[in-house]
Amino acid sequence: MDARQMKIKAAEAALEYVENGMRLGIGTGSTAEEFVRLLAEKVASGFKITGVPTSERTARLCLELGVPLKSLDELPELDLTIDGADELDEKLRLIKGGGGALLREKIVASASARMIVIADESKVVDVLGAFKLPIEVNPFGQVATRLAIEKVAARLGLTGDIVVRAAGDGPFMTDGGHLILDASFGRIPDAEALAAELNAIPGVVEHGLFIGMASMAVIAGPQGARKLTAS
Ligand code: 5RP
Repeated sequence: MDARQMKIKAAEAALEYVENGMRLGIGTGSTAEEFVRLLAEKVASGFKITGVPTSERTARLCLELGVPLKSLDELPELDLTIDGADELDEKLRLIKGGGGALLREKIVASASARMIVIADESKVVDVLGAFKLPIEVNPFGQVATRLAIEKVAARLGLTGDIVVRAAGDGPFMTDGGHLILDASFGRIPDAEALAAELNAIPGVVEHGLFIGMASMAVIAGPQGARKLTAS
């Protein structure tokens, strides 16, 4: 089974949790896009859901494939969000934001009664942090914000480069008009402490640590999909 087939397997297994009439948060990234394609097939055969996309990219794909959408302001309480992740541990703590949509993803997941993560086995780790932690920051004062991040990281024993994510010749800009700093911390033994410290820095709009948000993950591997619930 290649990487794409595993993403499809995870998406297929998660689709079973989507019920007719649901208000559904729809994630961002290549795994979430496989989910959108499968969802669109169900919608075409008469299944009714209303989706709330977590990015402009996901919104475009949904519109192209005929998945009905509303904004989160029109539908501020959702039944379920299905989204990918860059890393997850056995306690269902996640790193997200590789696709740059972490702020909207976190807002949508927070507005949902449940969040199910779809991923392949390569995303499951013992300790978060091999994937660079995306931190969304306001462009104003970005250098001061980066210094503040370095200081809180150092207090927690975390070091490593923190770089502005690039896109083409300039910086990557999120849907909300912010920058992403990618922090190469390596292992993050106390993700809760880091999340709390980052939340307290004014220039940090949001960070990619999703803690206590996912209730289940569907993990696809060569043998098929398995469910992971928080231990
Ligand atoms: C986007 C995300 C994605 O869910 C994450 O990057 C995983 O993407 P993929 O399924 O392409 O590996 O957080 O901001």
